Amino acid sequence: MQKKLPGINIEKPDLSVEIAGIKMNNPIMIASGTFGYGTEFSEVEGFSHDEVGAIVLKGTTLNKTRGNPIPRIAEVDCGIINSIGLQNPGIDFVLKNYIPKLRQYKTKIILNIAGYSEDEYKEIAKRINDVNGVHGIEVNISCPNIKEGGMQFCLDPKMTFRVIEKIRGETKLPLIVKLSPNVTDIVQIAKAAIEGGADALSLINTVTAMAIDTKTKRPKLGANFGGLSGPAIKPIAIHKIFQTYQYISQYVKDKKIPLIGIGGIESADDIIEFILAGANAVQIGTSTMIYKTTIEQIISDIANRLSELNEKKINNLVGKVILNT
Ligand SMILES: Cc1cc2nc3c(=O)[nH]c(=O)nc-3n(C[C@H](O)[C@H](O)[C@H](O)COP(=O)(O)O)c2cc1C
Repeated sequence: MQKKLPGINIEKPDLSVEIAGIKMNNPIMIASGTFGYGTEFSEVEGFSHDEVGAIVLKGTTLNKTRGNPIPRIAEVDCGIINSIGLQNPGIDFVLKNYIPKLRQYKTKIILNIAGYSEDEYKEIAKRINDVNGVHGIEVNISCPNIKEGGMQFCLDPKMTFRVIEKIRGETKLPLIVKLSPNVTDIVQIAKAAIEGGADALSLINTVTAMAIDTKTKRPKLGANFGGLSGPAIKPIAIHKIFQTYQYISQYVKDKKIPLIGIGGIESADDIIEFILAGANAVQIGTSTMIYKTTIEQIISDIANRLSELNEKKINNLVGKVILNT
């Protein structure tokens, strides 16, 4: 039976979604790298892990990675540029020290993995297999492939296909491939990821960007440039989701590939916009650092918005943008 909204005589809309077999109470996920390993937020007042559909943990590599020189974050108009450089303690440490602590929560835990060669990605996927408390893997393919001249995996369909195929061979966990916007045609990369064995796609990662201090004439980041996130990138992300959804709905008939929209989300209306463009779920990153609105508020706003639109299920809105002719 559906619950009723307090004080209002209408049925509470169904916000539940399923991404590659991962069942979530609502479409809100926390984006990788903006939330540490999830345990830190137990100290933050007003945040409850169980309110969000899923938490994507910080990007994790095979071995401990020290990251880039400071400063690693520069504030710019409508967003931030970061160059963290994947600082993390390595997969074994994460599996041993963080995953057991996260098992107490009802939310779903997705491990975001990164590597500098196909074999490295393969080895991490192998180590995650059968770990209790990990519900899925998100693969960050925006890393340089050291064995092939340092070109990022996400920039080349062949490299994307090969790395995803290798990871797929190692794991039965739901496999989400995270796409970069820094490409000429994101659809070609989406296609390669699906052919390699992706169960779902998440997009977008940050947009390559740079900021210069005019007094010192130096870049504002220790690594000179980094990735832009926050509201500045939302319209880019909406378009990439739209393009990818159009491709999948027209050409990928035999397999259902859900999309997770990421980029500049701050409100319920932003989430509905991503869903209309073709996303089944979303991730919130940079705005979790600002906390203008709580997740609880966003969830209640989505329910109200759906009621206004006379929709009983959030799923009914996926890809329902009405295009101008
Ligand atoms: C400080 C910071 C660290 C990030 N680290 C990662 C990471 O480790 N792996 C990854 O796939 N994406 C990482 N991202 C990208 C976010 O997950 C997300 O794709 C991007 O920020 C766009 O969403 P947003 O505008 O809501 O932040 C990071 C973003 C930020 C701001």
